[in-house]
Amino acid sequence: MNLIDGKKIASQILDELAKKIARFPRKIGLAVLMVGDNPGSQAYVRMKKKACAQLGIDSLTEQLDADTSPETVLQKIEVLNHTPAIDGILVQLPLPDHYNPQQITRAIDPNKDVDGFHPMNVGKLLLGEDGGFIPCTPHGIQLLLEKSQIEIAGKHVVIVGRSNIVGKPLAALLVQKRRGCNATVTIVHSQSEHLSDITRTADILIAAIGQPHFITNKLVKPGAVVVDVGINRMQDETGNVKLVGDVDFSSVAPIASWITPVPGGVGPMTIALLMQNTYESALRRG
Ligand code: GUN
Repeated sequence: MNLIDGKKIASQILDELAKKIARFPRKIGLAVLMVGDNPGSQAYVRMKKKACAQLGIDSLTEQLDADTSPETVLQKIEVLNHTPAIDGILVQLPLPDHYNPQQITRAIDPNKDVDGFHPMNVGKLLLGEDGGFIPCTPHGIQLLLEKSQIEIAGKHVVIVGRSNIVGKPLAALLVQKRRGCNATVTIVHSQSEHLSDITRTADILIAAIGQPHFITNKLVKPGAVVVDVGINRMQDETGNVKLVGDVDFSSVAPIASWITPVPGGVGPMTIALLMQNTYESALRRG
């Protein structure tokens, strides 16, 4: 078993970016809106701010109460859309229940949508058009595999989970006719029949279901590459919060050829690709 070191690959990407950003003639700005106090989201937003600080990107974070109205958030987005110093805007998900997340992501200027969640960017990804933004976690996973020299072309990739943030855009990306993609892709989900029969045919199995330790060795073909996208917060016996993945690492690692750890696998790549998208937006905007 080989460990895929997401932290190391992400820090190489950030080092390259830092050099480019240092040469960029003006300050780059990223706005992060967060509604409510979801602890997972708070941790993510902290990491995003830290990465911005490391790279010299100005980050503007707004933490809003859970009972903030969607109209207030829409107004804030509208102001940010028209603020020249802001190159990227993201609204941390999940949002409280009284929100329609689609309505919020649609309000963001597609040219500042560094998460790649706006329908315009989703459409460009599906069509294989350049000039959009690819969602950070899917792009991070593709780069993790490519930089670990794991062949994707022609391989059967099975994605467990059909979310708009990971499963669906990841399938659209890996099936692209372009370098580092060209996979045969299957998505399975909570309604799939014969799920384990399908996952056992995967050369590359990607777990993005948000259920701790869902993937055991019974679901994995020996020699498969296993990518764990899950970040589930669990309390241990002593009350400490621990991050656990969707993959039961101790059961799967002995039979996998390559596996990503949690933490230190996909998570750092998501942050690195967000920084890359923000830089890309600044470049395009000039
Ligand atoms: N929640 C989980 N992943 C993400 C992400 O990549 N972007 C945003 N905005 N929210 C998330």
